[in-house]
Amino acid sequence: MNLREQWEAEAGRWLAWARAPGHDSFWRHHREQFSRLLPPPGALTLDIGCGEGRLSRHLASEGHRVVGVDASPSLIAAARAADPTIGVVRADAAALPLADACADLAIAFMSLQDVDAMPAAVRELARVLRRGGRFCMAIVHPLNSAGRFASLASNAPFVIQGSYLDSYTFSDAIERDGLSMTFHSAHRPLQSYFEALEAEGFLIEALREPSIPEAIITRDSSRRWLRVPLFLHLRCLRP
Ligand SMILES: C[S@@+](CC[C@H](N)C(=O)[O-])C[C@H]1O[C@@H](n2cnc3c(N)ncnc32)[C@H](O)[C@@H]1O
Repeated sequence: MNLREQWEAEAGRWLAWARAPGHDSFWRHHREQFSRLLPPPGALTLDIGCGEGRLSRHLASEGHRVVGVDASPSLIAAARAADPTIGVVRADAAALPLADACADLAIAFMSLQDVDAMPAAVRELARVLRRGGRFCMAIVHPLNSAGRFASLASNAPFVIQGSYLDSYTFSDAIERDGLSMTFHSAHRPLQSYFEALEAEGFLIEALREPSIPEAIITRDSSRRWLRVPLFLHLRCLRP
């Protein structure tokens, strides 16, 4: 199975995981950290890899006119059921059924690391963005996906056993608070993402490497993440 098919197979467990109140980092800190990077609402905001639609619904509540796009039929159905007023389209990010230059903001929140054909997806979102539009993305930080902490201790060494510079797919099975989820993703070095953006002429306006805000840490093991970034956030201009 490719990543797209693996995400559809995992859709039921993702729905439970993503919607459990306060369970995922999205609710605890990630949504706020990412939202600070976003420009104000314009004519059309695309949420590419929208999943069950939690970010689309937040954006709509902030005044964005949103269309969500995802390849998973189950997640698109769940997004539509949760808010029928938000447009959703089932499509591969690498082949968007949308007109050239139709949007002024394209967002890929935690989806590009899960997309099989990442450069083709970046090409497509550049095509549907008007000149002067912005592309904002969040991914698992490539340093994070390259390695592992050796233990739960706050000073545990962070170890890269393979190669940071290689690209490869991997699956990470997690159980927490009675919920289980297997994340199917690709590790790609930073250069892969920046080459895809460079090929479309994007200019980087802002870059953040967020981790867990110290103020919300309740478990000692989370302190490891004050030394290594969890995510990479970018805001890019399409000149
Ligand atoms: C980690 S989830 C994030 C979902 C959503 N952005 C959120 O934060 O709730 C990754 C999403 O990428 C979607 N995805 C994977 N491959 C895709 C592709 N080729 N085209 C569009 N979406 C894809 C999956 O179906 C899944 O909904």
